[in-house]
Amino acid sequence: MLVNMKEMLNKADSGKYAVPQFNINNLEWTRFILEECQELNSPVILGVSEGAIKYMGGYKTVSNLVKSLISDLNITIPVALHLDHGSSYESCVKAIDNGFTSVMIDASKYPLEENINITKQVVLYAKDKNVTVEAEVGAVGGEEDGVANELAYAKIEDAVKLVDSTNIDFLAPALGSVHGIYKGKPKLDFIRMEKIHKLVNIPLVLHGGSGIPDDLIQKAISCGICKININTELQIAWSQGVRQFLQVNQKVYDPRKIIKAGEKAMKEMIKEKVILFGSNDRA
Ligand code: 13P
Repeated sequence: MLVNMKEMLNKADSGKYAVPQFNINNLEWTRFILEECQELNSPVILGVSEGAIKYMGGYKTVSNLVKSLISDLNITIPVALHLDHGSSYESCVKAIDNGFTSVMIDASKYPLEENINITKQVVLYAKDKNVTVEAEVGAVGGEEDGVANELAYAKIEDAVKLVDSTNIDFLAPALGSVHGIYKGKPKLDFIRMEKIHKLVNIPLVLHGGSGIPDDLIQKAISCGICKININTELQIAWSQGVRQFLQVNQKVYDPRKIIKAGEKAMKEMIKEKVILFGSNDRA
């Protein structure tokens, strides 16, 4: 069932668990994620970056792929199709017009006033179409889709101003997490996280969820995090599975066998995250 993120994240907020956002890169990944989350009876968010959309052919292809798989595989759990790090108003409009049920407008690289203005325009367009909106304040560090970012912790007053002046549904405040692999232990600011959650009173999103130790994930959930984004750890799990398979099956050339070789490791990782986040049996 394709839905926006409103109900699933509001439920997570009051139930003190988090819904996973797993990023998709192709048909097989989408299938593996849907099948495993259905098995675990967990709501799920399929995050798609602009780079992944380009790779897969375009907004319409991604949207039709997800809708068709939900139907063909008889998926009954709530599934949101979410634009991850939409870089412009135009990109969000394209996603919405092509059937995405949720968008992230990431104008965090601009000064706050500009971030607010761009985000406001996206909310205005999205609300009419029953599409939910996530925005970012501060800067999540690390590298995603080949773009490197310096980590900058979100200021509490900026977070409050962004939420109050835009009417967004969810906020992703940068609080020490990074995209990609961590160098050392992540330094999450839980005090600030809790304060922001109390003041803005909407579900918070944690980007850069891969590589964060389990106890810190649980602490983040207790401080108001309701959605956790995982991309890198799925990529690592899948590629390890494929590498191992190819080492022992050097003569195999059927792409279905090669891509499928990452399925088991990927599904195990999905299960681990769903159980850690507490979203199993919440569909
Ligand atoms: P990871 O790179 O830590 O998996 O984070 C993914 C993410 O936040 C996508 O927006």
